[in-house]
Amino acid sequence: MPAVHRDPPGQPGPERLRGLRRLGQRPQQLGPDCRVRRRPGHRRAVRAVRAGHHLDRRGRLQHVRARPGRAAPLPADRRTGRDDRGGDRGPHGPGTGTGPRGLTKAPPARRARLTPGVSNRGRGSAVRIAVTGASGTVGGQVLDLLARRPEHEVVALVRPATRWAAPPGVVVAPADYADPASLRAALGGVDTLVFVSSDGHAATVMLHHVNVVRAVTDAGVGHVVALSGLDVDVESPFCYAVTNGHTEELLAASGCAVSVARASVYTEFFLRLVTGARTGSELRLPAGDGRVSLVSRADVGRCLAALALAGPTSGHHDLTGPEALDGPAIAAAVSSAQGGQAVRYVEVDPADYAAALARAGETSWWAHAYGTMLESIRHQRWRAVSDEVERLTGAPPLSVDDVLARKALSRPAG
Ligand SMILES: NC(=O)c1ccc[n+]([C@@H]2O[C@H](COP(=O)([O-])OP(=O)(O)OC[C@H]3O[C@@H](n4cnc5c(N)ncnc54)[C@H](OP(=O)(O)O)[C@@H]3O)[C@@H](O)[C@H]2O)c1
Repeated sequence: MPAVHRDPPGQPGPERLRGLRRLGQRPQQLGPDCRVRRRPGHRRAVRAVRAGHHLDRRGRLQHVRARPGRAAPLPADRRTGRDDRGGDRGPHGPGTGTGPRGLTKAPPARRARLTPGVSNRGRGSAVRIAVTGASGTVGGQVLDLLARRPEHEVVALVRPATRWAAPPGVVVAPADYADPASLRAALGGVDTLVFVSSDGHAATVMLHHVNVVRAVTDAGVGHVVALSGLDVDVESPFCYAVTNGHTEELLAASGCAVSVARASVYTEFFLRLVTGARTGSELRLPAGDGRVSLVSRADVGRCLAALALAGPTSGHHDLTGPEALDGPAIAAAVSSAQGGQAVRYVEVDPADYAAALARAGETSWWAHAYGTMLESIRHQRWRAVSDEVERLTGAPPLSVDDVLARKALSRPAG
């Protein structure tokens, strides 16, 4: 049944228009009788997915979640020694611009154009799970984990120009966050979307996220697993707390079933950031006595995959490491990462930190992003520690020392 508009046929009234805007829809999407045009079975699919089931293209029940709010355990990739694809490569990394650098990308993958409602893998009844940011570190890990589950059809949303090789069996759907039509096409027939947040200037990120949420609604995706942050307060000084907070609001208003993964600061990213702030034996940061519950990208990826394989939890999950570290503890970690050379935490003024970043050639945007993140750490917005990683994946989260040990192991000898 399509969503019913009770007004008499004709142009939608102001209230209806407001309602449509809240849902991210435009008046042109109304039929002549002022009813929202949906693909057949949309309502039923949304109801079933909310209840923890999946429907195939003919509306048959395909999958029932084991227990409400509890995701199926995944293979702990720490057992296989798999790392998170070489550590920090994101634009948040020190000295990087937009897009990953320092990464040798694999040759171009085979591209497949997706037809809504049609399986490109010949699995007409499989649950189709799509992943955005699939060529990135976190998205790539999620994709690898999902691709090991033959019962699902896995779709990688990748920017058209990105040179990247998909894992075997994965369908590649070209899509750019900045291109709503490409997102809509890529999400056709998708049951569950793992929405890895965009990166870059906050205004651009917000625009990208609006596009993704609109495409999710238009395509009738049943369940979104959204990557967000531990700090989602739109009043926070941190620029991405604001974008993540507003994105969660958009998703909540979309009518789609949502499971939100609120990740703490990534261990790999933070260690690189603070290592850049080292001067001789001093780690000079404007972090006050703030604590941060650093979480590894590998754990974030495993949690996102676990949430995608479970039914919607309609809640949020705080993904943190095992403990919250303060400046001296972080200095000790940097010290051990650098062969045990003594490193001491020194609290500096935010303006001095910004000036040091500028001298090191950082762009004004990234200097702002790092400065506001450290301010939110100073405000103790990242100190919460949870047991969600273990609850979702069945394995405890990696500590900073674990991450450093894995990095040392993955470094070539000699
Ligand atoms: N909590 C933290 O500490 C922290 C730190 C850094 C980042 N983050 C957030 O976590 C996300 C995932 O982190 P990550 O380390 O996996 O980042 P990453 O390795 O840089 O991956 C980012 C992914 O986003 C894709 N992307 C960028 N712009 C796009 C666009 N316009 N359209 C479609 N795809 C686009 C990239 O595609 P290409 O390969 O084509 O560039 C890449 O696949 C980041 O995007 C950011 O939102 C959080």
